[in-house]
Amino acid sequence: MTRDVYKNGQWSAGDGPAFQKTCPASDEVVWSGHAASGAQVEAAVGAARAAFAPWALRPQAERIAILEAYADALTSRRDAIARAISRDMGKALWESLSEADAMAAKVAISVKAQAERAGQKSAAAAFGTIDLGHRPHGVMAVIGPFNFPGHLPNGHLVPALLAGNTCVFKPSELAPSVAALMVEAFEAAGLPQGCLNVVHGGREVGSAVLNARIDGLLFTGSVEAGLAFHRHFAGRPQIILALEMGGNNPLIVWNPADVEAAADIVFTSAFVTTGQRCSCARRLILPEGGFGDDVLTALVERIRTVPIGAWDQDVFMGSVVSAPAAQAALRFESDLLTSGAKPVQAFEHPFGPGAFLRPALIDVTHARDVPDTELFGPLLQVTRVRDFDSAIDRANATRFGLAAGFVGDDDDLWRKAYSHLNAGVLTRNRPTAGAPSSLPFGGPGLSGNHRPSAYYAADYCAWPQATQSAQKAVRQTPAGYGGGFGR
Ligand code: NAD
Ligand code: SIN
Repeated sequence: MTRDVYKNGQWSAGDGPAFQKTCPASDEVVWSGHAASGAQVEAAVGAARAAFAPWALRPQAERIAILEAYADALTSRRDAIARAISRDMGKALWESLSEADAMAAKVAISVKAQAERAGQKSAAAAFGTIDLGHRPHGVMAVIGPFNFPGHLPNGHLVPALLAGNTCVFKPSELAPSVAALMVEAFEAAGLPQGCLNVVHGGREVGSAVLNARIDGLLFTGSVEAGLAFHRHFAGRPQIILALEMGGNNPLIVWNPADVEAAADIVFTSAFVTTGQRCSCARRLILPEGGFGDDVLTALVERIRTVPIGAWDQDVFMGSVVSAPAAQAALRFESDLLTSGAKPVQAFEHPFGPGAFLRPALIDVTHARDVPDTELFGPLLQVTRVRDFDSAIDRANATRFGLAAGFVGDDDDLWRKAYSHLNAGVLTRNRPTAGAPSSLPFGGPGLSGNHRPSAYYAADYCAWPQATQSAQKAVRQTPAGYGGGFGR
């Protein structure tokens, strides 16, 4: 069966150009199909619009029951979901299994978050009652990235559907396979036809989604795409826009007693998922002197010995998403070196040219014009500084504000880091990557548009409606009205 476009409960062939995804570890073709055409995108949005009113009017308890059944259906497909993700984008299976678990767990968290942040409340007033309710926006487009191709779109779809919206989902063209398994789980859960529609394809399909009659765009991906979308919707405040973008995340390591523990935290922060998490540390800030030298030595040892290999082997790190992504990382490294940076450990291809990289550690302390951009791969830049104030200044010298971390035993320094670091996701003595879904996820600067996701996704999936009601119409006197204000 051709699974390019899912609309009104049916898969069909895409009318757009053919495309395929190869596994970056084996070079086998793991997904092939056709992109959706512009007309198919419009039809998918039309199907979501037709399904909106009945879904929005369903009692909340029924929507919750369907989403809970979806969580169970995901759990029973855990292995298939994890393997589909790993085959497409190369990350180690242990990681994709935890992604599949996070997808199922998202439902209970979203139900709780919605009740807390976008639920119903009533209070008595002299004239009757005042109520707070929340209403869904309508048709939400969800455009997803490749690095968590299940978990991140799921983190928009679940709260959006819970709130009563219907959705059109465009998966990443670099990791398309998991979408069909998500659809299967929604079907098993009894989600009504039209509530979720899927259109496969690349940027041109993303653009067609943007140009269709949607009420909101829930996006996770690069800052370049997010800025283009922000410009696209300028002057249209009625379209809800939630942008979850990248970071250039700093990690300050300041003299903890245990150098090996510090190196473990840095290594995981920078290189988990082969450096392809938005929350990965990109910039390590270390004091000048012996302690910083020891951390670098311990990191180089970890880089040289970390198990790297195909996603289905017993490895810490798989490949990056594609051979071109590995080449882009090598070019980034080469540009840094041209600007005066020094390799502590340069990239290596452990198995010859292709998508596998042994991580790089590059000292940029004396480099000129280091770009404040996110290299989405396993490269960590190191800066050595004289004092802690300089460390904070260096950490904050970025246009982004997603994640930042402090590794150190000194409580006073931590208090300073806590109150000065400009990042929405902050850690102390913990890897920067691996945010709990029970907290909001997002940050200031170019990392988003102040609509954090995860626990706060409920906020952008519904709009508040404030109601005052009196059971009977009564004559209004100045004293009775009292200037309004809900008394
Ligand atoms: P990407 O922006 O290249 O692609 C994401 C999605 O947007 C894909 O579906 C793609 O087809 C679509 N797209 C990209 N450009 C488009 C355009 N001009 N018009 C229409 N559609 C377009 O991102 P990626 O490489 O898949 O993912 C990695 C990026 O995502 C990194 O920058 C990372 O930091 C970010 N990310 C952010 C978060 C977060 O929560 N803040 C989480 C994960 C990843
Ligand atoms: C990501 O979304 O890329 C990372 C999130 C996390 O590390 O928890």
